[in-house]
Amino acid sequence: MAVNKSLFLVEHDKNGVYHAFREDVLNGLKQSPKAIPARWLYDETGSQIFEDITELPEYYPTRAERQILVDRSKELSQLIRSNGAVVEFGSGSSLKTPLLLSFLQPSVYVPIDISGDYLRSSALKLSSQFPGIPIYPVEADFLRKVELPEQVVEYSKLGFFPGSTIGNMVAGSAVDLLRSMRETLGDASQLLIGMDMIKDPKILIAAYDDKAGITAKFNLNVINRINRELNGNLPIENFRHEARWNNDYARIEMHLVAKESLQFSVSGEVFTIAKGESLHTENSHKYNERTANILLQAGGWTPSHRWLDNQNLFSLILADATIPRSAP
Ligand code: AVI
Repeated sequence: MAVNKSLFLVEHDKNGVYHAFREDVLNGLKQSPKAIPARWLYDETGSQIFEDITELPEYYPTRAERQILVDRSKELSQLIRSNGAVVEFGSGSSLKTPLLLSFLQPSVYVPIDISGDYLRSSALKLSSQFPGIPIYPVEADFLRKVELPEQVVEYSKLGFFPGSTIGNMVAGSAVDLLRSMRETLGDASQLLIGMDMIKDPKILIAAYDDKAGITAKFNLNVINRINRELNGNLPIENFRHEARWNNDYARIEMHLVAKESLQFSVSGEVFTIAKGESLHTENSHKYNERTANILLQAGGWTPSHRWLDNQNLFSLILADATIPRSAP
């Protein structure tokens, strides 16, 4: 599965990317605890490593979500309003998109992604696989309301947001995103969203700290990126990857922990980090039925159906756009 670049990469403006990266890293290193926004994990190398992660025996989300889509395809086709448009938030290069398109056979497919090149290449691949489904790619930032092509206006719409990518956002940003999706898709639309489940922290830690060390490589890669792109000199060998379960926030956190006290510079600015102190690089929130429902409701969606894989690891949720009503 390729990562959803819209949330993580802003690659249409190289100079803008440099400034945003520099600002995020310098600000993040000045704050306590130190943090670097997760989107910077996904340069070309990071995106490739992420694809390897999705194949790891310990990393269950991709397989579990795929299994739900396969097992529930009949039910999904009955529950999703027929002959509509599938609007994917992300460029649809994951294996899940062909699965969904083949059993739903929508009238049109609209992938939305901020990375135009990525969007066009995956649209091209999908159009050869599904010659009967017109594809209208939209290059846009879906964190805000997106104007859909006029060809799809009359269709009922299903938003598709797989992978539990929503979990990489803190609650406030996740609600903002869900609200933007609601605005983009309009009344009478539906949303099919993957949300990873709260479970035994041992399973979660293993998924984010695999035996082969691929997730460690993924996390440590951001140090290489800082050194290369921001003229940094962080000694990568003096940091180690750590996956932590934060029970208060129901999330897995990735950290880069300093093995000893260090001084380093980035973009000409000098920083220190104490032994055992960490750079917090990613959150991956997990949900139960109630917290998933609350998040979706806060974002303007009313959950109607929920499916789990056969090990109850991952959930796929179908929701209806909430029609605002006066409430007590
Ligand atoms: C992209 N995202 C949904 C992944 C996750 O599970 O939170 C990113 C990831 N980070 C480490 N492993 C996978």
